[in-house]
Amino acid sequence: MAFLHAQVATRRPTSFWLHALRRRRERMAEHVLDLSAPVEWSSAEEQRAAIAFFNAAFRAEESGLRQAHELADEVAALDPELAETLRLYGDEEGWHRQLLTEFLHFIGGEVRPMGRVTGTFYRLYGRAKRMESIVLVNLMFESIGSTTYRMALARVKHPAIRPMLTILTRDESFHVPLNVHFLKHAMAGKSELARLRLRLLYKLMFVALVASAYASRRRAKAFDRIEFSELAQAYAEHLAALFAREPELGFTPPPLLLRLLGVDASKLASSDAAAVASVEAAEAAIDRHSAVVTGLA
Ligand SMILES: [Fe+2]
Ligand SMILES: [Fe+2]
Repeated sequence: MAFLHAQVATRRPTSFWLHALRRRRERMAEHVLDLSAPVEWSSAEEQRAAIAFFNAAFRAEESGLRQAHELADEVAALDPELAETLRLYGDEEGWHRQLLTEFLHFIGGEVRPMGRVTGTFYRLYGRAKRMESIVLVNLMFESIGSTTYRMALARVKHPAIRPMLTILTRDESFHVPLNVHFLKHAMAGKSELARLRLRLLYKLMFVALVASAYASRRRAKAFDRIEFSELAQAYAEHLAALFAREPELGFTPPPLLLRLLGVDASKLASSDAAAVASVEAAEAAIDRHSAVVTGLA
C-alpha cells in the first residue's frame, strides 16, 4: 500500500499538465525583457563568455522545441491530449529561443554555428527514434540546463542579465517535472528489454553530461563564475536525484562517479535536488507570477 501511496504522490494526469501549460501560455506575453540599459562588462573575456553561455542555452531551446513538436505529431492520432501538451511545451521552448535570439544581439553577440562537440551531441540526439529515449535525453538536458541557470543566477549580478536568467530558471524548473511525466508516459507498457536499454542510456548520458561540464567551463566560466568541481557535482546530484523518489523506474546513477564527486546517494530522495523534479515544484511554477526562485543564495 505504501508503494501505491508513493506513486499517487508523484503523479498527475496529462490533463493537469495541459491545464498548467494553457495557463502559462496566457501569461507568456506579459513577460517582456527590458533591454534599454546596456551591460557594463568587467572585461571583454566576460562578454565573450556570456555570449558562449547564451549560445549554449539557445541550442538547448532549439533542440527541445524541435523534439517536442516532432513527438507531438507522432502521438497526435493516438493521444490528442498528450500531443497538445507536448506542443505547448515545445512552444515554451520556442518562446525562450526567440527571447535568446534577441538577448544575444543585446549583449553584442549572435547565434553562432555549433562547435564540434556540441554539434556531435545534438546530431546523435537528433537521430534517436524511440520516444522514450528522446524524452529521457531531453529530461536530462532540462535538468542540467535548469541547474546551470539556477547556479548562474546566484552569481551573476548584472541587472540587465538577471531577468533573462530568471525567466529561464523559473521555466526550466517547470519543464523538469513535466518531462518526468512525459517519460513515465513513454515508458508505460514497454518491454523489460526496452527498459534495460533505457537504463543503460541513462548511465551513458549521465557520464557524458557530467563530463560536458568541463568543456563548458572553458567557454563560460568568465561569465557564470561556476567552478568545474561545483558544476560537475551539481550535475551529478541533480541527474541522480531525478529518479531518487521513484526507484520502481529502475534508473540508478553510476555509483563510482557519485562517490568521486562526493554525492551521497542515500540522501538523494530527501534532497533539494529531488524536490526540483517533483510535482510540487511544478505546481509552484505553474503561475509565472507566483513562481518563486528559491535556494539561490
Ligand atoms: Fe527553455
Ligand atoms: Fe525547457
